[in-house]
Amino acid sequence: DLTRAMDNLRTQVAACKLCTDLACRRQNTVFGVGPLNTRFVMVGEAPGADEDRIGEPFVGAAGQLLDKILIATGIPREQVYILNTLKCRPPNNRVPTEEEMANCRPYFEQQLEILQPDYIICWGTTAVRAILNVPTPIGQLRGKFHRYKQAKVVVTYHPAYLLDRKSTRLNSSHTVISYAVFCLKKK
Ligand code: URA
Repeated sequence: DLTRAMDNLRTQVAACKLCTDLACRRQNTVFGVGPLNTRFVMVGEAPGADEDRIGEPFVGAAGQLLDKILIATGIPREQVYILNTLKCRPPNNRVPTEEEMANCRPYFEQQLEILQPDYIICWGTTAVRAILNVPTPIGQLRGKFHRYKQAKVVVTYHPAYLLDRKSTRLNSSHTVISYAVFCLKKK
């Protein structure tokens, strides 16, 4: 069943050493968290220091912003499955390399295969590249639905990017995100 399939995958990820450099630095792999019967999956980039320490996605500063955004959209975090394109923290939070993304791809693909979400929300360029397989900037992709297999995909800026840019961007992007998720819920 689904629980067993996800647990097996989690065990494989915990033992993975494909990215030698990341595997020997990590404290924890960060597999993903949320209900298996969810309609919504959110995809981030890779664990940061807090996530590496705790073993859960989006528990640091970006996670706190994510919580606020979710509250604003009215989707409880407990109803969303949250995962990253990389399960290990890149040193100094650098952007994942192509090789790392290729190594980790089968894991998130299998997670999505198990979850069969109706909607996938991509946070930031790395998630977009992983899910939609295009290099197009977020600005040109947001505001409409894309596809990953049977799921509708919405893309938005990464919460950490919003944190860096503070008020103006945050407000406008926040509106965009809320609107995107509002549309999702109406469907
Ligand atoms: N940023 C991400 O993309 N993922 C996390 O889990 C934390 C920060």
